[in-house]
Amino acid sequence: MKNIIVVGGGGREHAVIKKLKESPEVGTIYALPGNGGMEGDAVCVNVAATDIDSIVKFAYENKIDYAVVTPDDPLVLGAVDALEAHGVPCFGPRANAAIIEGSKVFSKNLMKKYGIPTARYETFDNEAAALSYLETAPIPTVVKADGLALGKGVIIAETRDEAKAAVVSMMRDKKFGKSGEHIVIEEFLTGPEVSVLSFTDGETVIPMVSSMDHKRALDGDKGLNTGGMGTIAPNPYYTKEIAAVCMETIFLPTIRAMKAEGRPFKGCLYFGLMLTPDGPKVIEYNCRFGDPETQVVLPLLESDLFTIMQATTNGTLAETEVKFSEKAAACVIMASAGYPASYEKGFPMDIPAEVAPYVYVAGAKKDGDRLLTNGGRVLGVTATAEDLKSALALAYSRVERISFANAYYRKDIGKRALEVL
Ligand code: AMP
Ligand code: GLY
Repeated sequence: MKNIIVVGGGGREHAVIKKLKESPEVGTIYALPGNGGMEGDAVCVNVAATDIDSIVKFAYENKIDYAVVTPDDPLVLGAVDALEAHGVPCFGPRANAAIIEGSKVFSKNLMKKYGIPTARYETFDNEAAALSYLETAPIPTVVKADGLALGKGVIIAETRDEAKAAVVSMMRDKKFGKSGEHIVIEEFLTGPEVSVLSFTDGETVIPMVSSMDHKRALDGDKGLNTGGMGTIAPNPYYTKEIAAVCMETIFLPTIRAMKAEGRPFKGCLYFGLMLTPDGPKVIEYNCRFGDPETQVVLPLLESDLFTIMQATTNGTLAETEVKFSEKAAACVIMASAGYPASYEKGFPMDIPAEVAPYVYVAGAKKDGDRLLTNGGRVLGVTATAEDLKSALALAYSRVERISFANAYYRKDIGKRALEVL
């Protein structure tokens, strides 16, 4: 039996932990830091996901056999490099590959160099040059901070003035700190968005079942951008034909490009795609599992997750079975009202026992026997079924049986997808 640490503490990590527990090889799972809602599935250890020294110390002192690093910041900061240096094999890319998410300037230049389809763009490290470019740039346009910005560093500007204000907020006012010292200004693309998570060992890439995120806070795709208010899988826009095109023009070229750059990518590479009238294009790469995409993708995985993860580390993915169910999955995020702006927390939750196995806990803490809300996104309530309509009905029926003060959730997760089917 192998003892494992999972670095991170949200709903995505809870989904990873629950899937890992199905493996006969997995012994104790420690979540660093985890959250109070996953205590039945993992031993939560009070170490921050970005405290790399303490993570390494914990792994060493507790004879950890394998580490799964899921959030972007520890990956970009080199958590995998540090753990490997102390003899702990890991699932996740080293820092020199995690840069594919950590720097948009890097990823855009990579795509340009290797002919991978993406929005046309310019990069800037000088505010005056960026503002001058915007005098004649096509509008709408998209302004992106180079570095990690908690998912907030992308501004879609409908007017020239909005675009200029975005540049000033990033470069002069340093709204995202160092992340905005360099920026990308890119062409505005249109079309349905698809998330494709993939397993890769640096040579072989195996896409997981596709999914669709719902990023806006309110029904009808209105309101502020969030980390994601719900997901469905598979994504009906992503046909077999489109999948084949993506493999040839995007997935394999990206894996080969990273290898050619001396930055082989191992772990989960997330392709954020837009299916434009000119074909599929990359909107963004993430160096990790998506949240809440993982909450619909992993429940459909029929093969052993721990075996697959080890194969990405060992370079044996080509010989490893990765099989997904033909069923559909849905996840509805129950959030604290006011998220992603300001919200209250600390309210007790009532989650009936028969619903609990389908709930991934994102933001909660224990207070004696009670579970209290402790974040913006609180729960990811999921279901799988023969088709999407049934999965959504089941997920919503579970949502309705859960209660906590100030609970908020979108009522239209999967609505657009059902219209396509
Ligand atoms: P990102 O943080 O890169 O995922 O971007 C957030 C969201 O902004 C994406 O999910 C898209 O909906 C949108 N977006 C990013 N880049 C573009 C683009 N070039 N054209 C249109 N929409 C975009
Ligand atoms: N749900 C989008 C992300 O994980 O970045």
